[in-house]
Amino acid sequence: MSEPVNVADFEEIARERLDPGPYAYFAGGAGDERTLRANVEAFARWELRPRVLVDVGEVSAATTVLGTEVALPVLVAPTAFQRLADPEGEPAMARAVAAAGTIMCLSTIASVTPAELAAAVPGSPLWFQLYWSTDRGFTKELLAQVVEARFTALVLTVDFPVAGRRERDIRLAFTLPDDLPAPNLPVALARKDFHSALGHIVDATLTWRDLEWLRSACELPLVLKGVLTAEDALLAAEHGASAIVVSNHGGRQLDGVPASLDALPEVVEAAGERVEVLVDGGVRRGTDVLKALALGARAVLSGRAVLWGLAAAGEDGAARVLALLREEIEGGLRLLGCTRPDEVTRAHVRRAGSPSV
Ligand SMILES: Cc1cc2nc3c(=O)[nH]c(=O)nc-3n(C[C@H](O)[C@H](O)[C@H](O)COP(=O)(O)O)c2cc1C
Repeated sequence: MSEPVNVADFEEIARERLDPGPYAYFAGGAGDERTLRANVEAFARWELRPRVLVDVGEVSAATTVLGTEVALPVLVAPTAFQRLADPEGEPAMARAVAAAGTIMCLSTIASVTPAELAAAVPGSPLWFQLYWSTDRGFTKELLAQVVEARFTALVLTVDFPVAGRRERDIRLAFTLPDDLPAPNLPVALARKDFHSALGHIVDATLTWRDLEWLRSACELPLVLKGVLTAEDALLAAEHGASAIVVSNHGGRQLDGVPASLDALPEVVEAAGERVEVLVDGGVRRGTDVLKALALGARAVLSGRAVLWGLAAAGEDGAARVLALLREEIEGGLRLLGCTRPDEVTRAHVRRAGSPSV
């Protein structure tokens, strides 16, 4: 293929380079993959309302997330097993993200420890995503490592009491390579049946009350990832979350839940000013990011788009995807009549086909 010019081109190259098992693991969703498809399709149901004759000579995609400056309103979502995409895995991704001037969120299911990742990108902001295991002592020790390695926020994934049923993996009998380390897990992953092994590393009995323990074990700002309703947004605010990620785990957990973009407005309304709202799921274009901002997100997280870059061309590929998104966001801001992400408002979008805003 000729030089990739958009995220879809990077996915095409990644698909050609990856073995069918890892490709299915990255691309797939749960059940009938309705939510997986809905995440992407939802962006097409919103249209942009540009304003003209605005001075857009100077435009910047930069913003802040939980007080940290980022060069674009796109963070990198926690995704497991990045070594399946590229032999250098998470450190390669982290270098690409640091060069792009934004934040990477390290998954608990990584091939490196928090300290090893931090050493790959000294001085760059990092977030840690926690799968909270049944072994509290282990979790406490892991959190101490996260703080010691100077991570700046803790992202607790709350939509994973058990792994979703991903039929592509089942059909291909996908297994992990034997030499894939997972140093942040309390148990070795059973190679043959890692989905059910993952079920065992997450404590399915956790409730809102347990957040108190978490906040006493780790003082970092808490981000709850996987909230889809106004009810849970209110509870998140009451329990002291600093941010929420509106997310359905990229369509990999409960199939049949709404597209993240469609759940965003009710969460934003409920969260009010108390909590920063981020969103992930289906972001493939700069204009997708602009629509999420218009509907109240402070920034988005990107899962598969950057993974496709990593799988297509390693660190350079991930960096190119982030550069591409930034270019598309800056171009989109100009054409929308805005000079910065925080100038994008609800008035910049309307439902497709609707006669009014
Ligand atoms: C291959 C893969 C692995 C993932 N692993 C994790 C994980 O370890 N922890 C987590 O909180 N979310 C995980 N997610 C979900 C992402 O953080 C994110 O919510 C999702 O990918 C966003 O959708 P997108 O891929 O359409 O951008 C994973 C997603 C994918 C595609």
